[in-house]
Amino acid sequence: MSASDPGLPIGILAELTHRCTLQCAYCSNPLELLKADRELGTDAWVSIFEQAADLGILQVHISGGEPTLRRDLPELVETLARRGVYSNLITAGVGVDARMVERLARAGLDHVQISFQGARPETTERIGRLRGAHEKKLAAARAVREADLPLTVNAPIHRRNIDEVELFIELALDLGAERLEIANVQYYGWALLNRAALMPPREAMERQIAVVEAARTALRGVLAIDFVAPDYYALYPKACMGGWARDAFMITPDGTAMPCHGAAAIPHLAFENAAKVPLAAIWTRSPAFEAYRGTDWMKDPCRSCERREIDFGGCRCQAMALAGDAAATDPACSLSPLHGRILALAQEEAAGDIDDVRHRRIGAAEPA
Ligand code: SF4
Ligand code: FES
Repeated sequence: MSASDPGLPIGILAELTHRCTLQCAYCSNPLELLKADRELGTDAWVSIFEQAADLGILQVHISGGEPTLRRDLPELVETLARRGVYSNLITAGVGVDARMVERLARAGLDHVQISFQGARPETTERIGRLRGAHEKKLAAARAVREADLPLTVNAPIHRRNIDEVELFIELALDLGAERLEIANVQYYGWALLNRAALMPPREAMERQIAVVEAARTALRGVLAIDFVAPDYYALYPKACMGGWARDAFMITPDGTAMPCHGAAAIPHLAFENAAKVPLAAIWTRSPAFEAYRGTDWMKDPCRSCERREIDFGGCRCQAMALAGDAAATDPACSLSPLHGRILALAQEEAAGDIDDVRHRRIGAAEPA
């Protein structure tokens, strides 16, 4: 695929709202959270989902913030189901009772992913800053299984819960989940702001990998375990979003269409609004989508690297944040000239005892 031939998208991450019941310090939402009055209305989302179906999009991940805070969620799910688009609800599972799950199942919801901030109740409460959150999540997960919907347990991993990986596996098994995502935090948005307090030490990361590998073998056919490696300790970066504007994109609560959730941090890009510009035009002609599509934009070492069509140079937003140039090789790559510095920074931060965390909520990222 080249910039002149964008191919067809297969997925959308639809962030319906930035409102949330939790205040996780690792959130990938932008520091400038949108208030409810900036959210698109029901008709705009229905139109976007209809256009997505026309474009041949196969799946929509309904996310936030907390998407179940939108009262029109069943109607939006129904739109996707009517058009044969697979819907995956990504929720924190707080405030999701059996009645809501049944209603969403009747509307045609296909899959639910529930995040657990810890495998122990006290960890979940401490990280999400909500008393009783763990029990609520357990109840939501059971309701999902009772409604016969497939369940994924999502475990965002960082220094404060990395020693609970075995317990996360037990939790996913207890809940009858099909899949467990051990997802090491990616440092964008609030997670980047709080990186020093979240970065795990290398030894803990190595222990975690050994636990995941052993469990994958032991639980083959019982529980699928996805593993998102911690970028800063990686040899090669991930293909962020599967490659820039290659097969998926995201839409923010106010309708801004971006190739990924961090793209707003790349200052020279301007984005279109999916409530005003047709999705097909955004996908094929938006300069922001074309900016890093394919491989033509690459500099060395990516340009001449045999992995350039495997990881597409890693993450543009991480390159922007760490190298100050969105077209640079992602410094998570061991071939990047900045990799050594990034690794040293990670180790230094992981060794520190920084407890100064800014929890995600409107206005909290502004300087004191
Ligand atoms: Fe990927 Fe670029 Fe690193 Fe090669 S040099 S492995 S293409 S990020
Ligand atoms: Fe933007 Fe990775 S988050 S390319």
